[in-house]
Amino acid sequence: MEKEKLISKKEIKNRIKELSKEINDSFIKNEELVIICLLKGSFIFAADLVRLINRRCFIHFIKASSYYGNTETSGIVNFSEDIDIDINNKNILLIDDILDTGFTLKKITDFLNKRNPKILKTCVLLDKKGRRKVDFESDYIGFVIDDVFVIGYGLDFDEEYRNLPEIYYVKEL
Ligand code: XMP
Repeated sequence: MEKEKLISKKEIKNRIKELSKEINDSFIKNEELVIICLLKGSFIFAADLVRLINRRCFIHFIKASSYYGNTETSGIVNFSEDIDIDINNKNILLIDDILDTGFTLKKITDFLNKRNPKILKTCVLLDKKGRRKVDFESDYIGFVIDDVFVIGYGLDFDEEYRNLPEIYYVKEL
């Protein structure tokens, strides 16, 4: 595989600091936050971001997937693990690695909204704005990127490359 660096470690670190400030300032001050991270892609981003959230936090995970080992989304979102907490009247921050067609976050926010949270906001590290197939925008966005397949910093190609500390785009498979 041929890959080229898209976003450096330093850029990621700086942007996450800014995002954490936005989040700390905009949710109702001093109220606890339930953070739900989507596995697997957001695990590194979420780990860095939650350490900068300055209030009482409860962290949970949902496993969702719409990819089948290649670079094209199937449009079918599968859940294999759900949260086991009551989110009624809670402040929720849902974290994902990348917003692409929007199928995943649309489906999961619809599903969580049925459980009547007080506030439900979403935060993504990357946003491929040009690829949207459903009407969905995230509240907090790290970087808007072009329509390229990205790996590293939690993002994979066929389960590989998640451990790369920066974000690369795939030039050639
Ligand atoms: P949708 O299309 O539902 O996609 O908004 C969201 C999920 O698709 C995965 N995805 C990617 N994974 N590199 C990846 O490693 C990419 O360029 C990419 N684009 C989408 C990702 O799991 C995300 O949660």
